[in-house]
Amino acid sequence: MIVTIDGVAASGKSSVASGVARRLQLPYVSSGLLYRAAALVALDEGLPTDRAEPLLASLEAQPVELRPLPEGNEVWRGSQDLTERLHTSEVDGSVSAVAQLQPLREWVNDHLRQLPPPFVAEGRDMGTNVFPQAEYKFYLTASPRVRAERRVQERTADLESVEAALVLRDARDARQSAPAPDARHIDTGLGNLEQVIAKVLSYLPD
Ligand code: CDP
Repeated sequence: MIVTIDGVAASGKSSVASGVARRLQLPYVSSGLLYRAAALVALDEGLPTDRAEPLLASLEAQPVELRPLPEGNEVWRGSQDLTERLHTSEVDGSVSAVAQLQPLREWVNDHLRQLPPPFVAEGRDMGTNVFPQAEYKFYLTASPRVRAERRVQERTADLESVEAALVLRDARDARQSAPAPDARHIDTGLGNLEQVIAKVLSYLPD
């Protein structure tokens, strides 16, 4: 079984996916972390974020590994744990450019397709492009203000600038963020985390 949970930035995908996966006793897979890891490598190594070749060459020379552990996803590069460095404003600001590079998307998708089901996968195009065969698909939304209020607790920035950055990232990500036609839409602003997890679980088999 594959469950896909897609949605806009800071719509609650990771928290919902991790909660649903825990109840189902499955791993969850955060595809955004691979895009974030690629953006971090570009920033660390001073590589352009609008050209695939140099970045892919670096990622091939020293591969990145996504570890979908039940307690949270980790991203490693050799002996380096990159996980704690993936959610900074700098990575937020660069990741959408990297995610527009088609060879980079293929690099991410190859990683994801090698993971053995069952799992819960979250991102932007899990239900459309990467796992179109998934049995259960969800698409999470929430207003920009609700999303910014959540994210401001995780970033050292004020509400207005976090909201503006989210809206900008939504626009840059629009191309790969269309919902699957067979996805159930859930507005995560209408309930707390437990209620949203319960709603997703209500559509899944026991
Ligand atoms: O948690 P949040 O929604 O802020 O971001 P994320 O899921 O970690 O994704 C970070 C970025 O990776 C997004 O802004 C997209 O640019 C890109 N992404 C993508 O293009 N396709 C995916 N399946 C997942 C993420």
